[in-house]
Amino acid sequence: MKDKLEQLLATATTQIGEAGTEAQLQSVRVSVLGKKGDLTDIMKGMRDLSPEERPQVGALANEVKDRFEELFAKRLDALRESDIAQRLSQEKIDITLPGSTSVAGRKHPITLVTEEITELFASMGFGVAEGPEVEQDFYNFEALNIPKDHPARDMQDTFYVDDETVLRTHTSPVQIRTMLKGQPPVRIIAPGTVYRRDSDITHSPMFHQVEGLLVDKNVTFGDLKGILTTFVHEYFGKNIGVRFRPSFFPFTEPSAEVDMQCVICKGKGCRVCSQTGWLEILGSGMVDPEVFKSVDYDPTVYSGFAFGMGIERIAMLKYGVNDLRLFFENDVRFLRQF
Ligand code: DAH
Repeated sequence: MKDKLEQLLATATTQIGEAGTEAQLQSVRVSVLGKKGDLTDIMKGMRDLSPEERPQVGALANEVKDRFEELFAKRLDALRESDIAQRLSQEKIDITLPGSTSVAGRKHPITLVTEEITELFASMGFGVAEGPEVEQDFYNFEALNIPKDHPARDMQDTFYVDDETVLRTHTSPVQIRTMLKGQPPVRIIAPGTVYRRDSDITHSPMFHQVEGLLVDKNVTFGDLKGILTTFVHEYFGKNIGVRFRPSFFPFTEPSAEVDMQCVICKGKGCRVCSQTGWLEILGSGMVDPEVFKSVDYDPTVYSGFAFGMGIERIAMLKYGVNDLRLFFENDVRFLRQF
């Protein structure tokens, strides 16, 4: 048996040396160590040996096995190395092939417009404020002078979480949250997501607004007109006409809606402005004394103005987008244009 083992090792050594590929080498391994391999076969003969011989032969068999494994591993390394060397010497990189480019991401137009508006107001001294999208009735309605039975609540189709909690229907509650944090002066804008039970071609149940609030001593309607006119001129162009139309909001008095001359037809009248030459872009007004009372500001000392605009609408006018749904479908062919 010892002879058989030695013979086996000698043969295997030669075979390993002759194996020219990894596959050939593996088949040598199977022929020796596999279930029906030669070494396995010899080991089966152990049971016929005498108890004295068995340990000796067993030890030798283990040695043969270890030696085989060692040779096998060395040859495998050598084969792999020469394989790599061969490939390196034969394969050439064609540097004229076009590379695989990675496509750069773009900002979503709503993000872009939000940032542009924020920057513009920042340059006029406004800081950025934030509030939660799941909002308490108090901030969304009550403190803004919209009590429970107020008809103004019908203007806003609200998603209720429970009796006292809503998905905010506008960014105006951030006014209240900001004023409750401290006394004037206040000069903030608050961009954010808002929700209404409204869904058709021109309404999305989720959309975006930017709120603005400025409170100090001696703030006048003239300041409101100045800031908002500057905004339109800086964002849409110096020659765009701006007009202030009387309106009503429960949280401002007096209130005004702001129109700008139609950017498409320059005021001549077209489909976008319904032939009027004007586009409504935001709501605004002087902060109602009732609102000041709910945040403990003294309306005999302080005055202020507020405004709110829809970002989707501004984005449509700024970038000539004619369908609101494009903002929410996220078709990359659309998004890549910004
Ligand atoms: N919150 C109003 C809305 O969603 C917009 C608005 C109007 C905000 C007048 C204001 C404001 O701050 O003064 O329709």
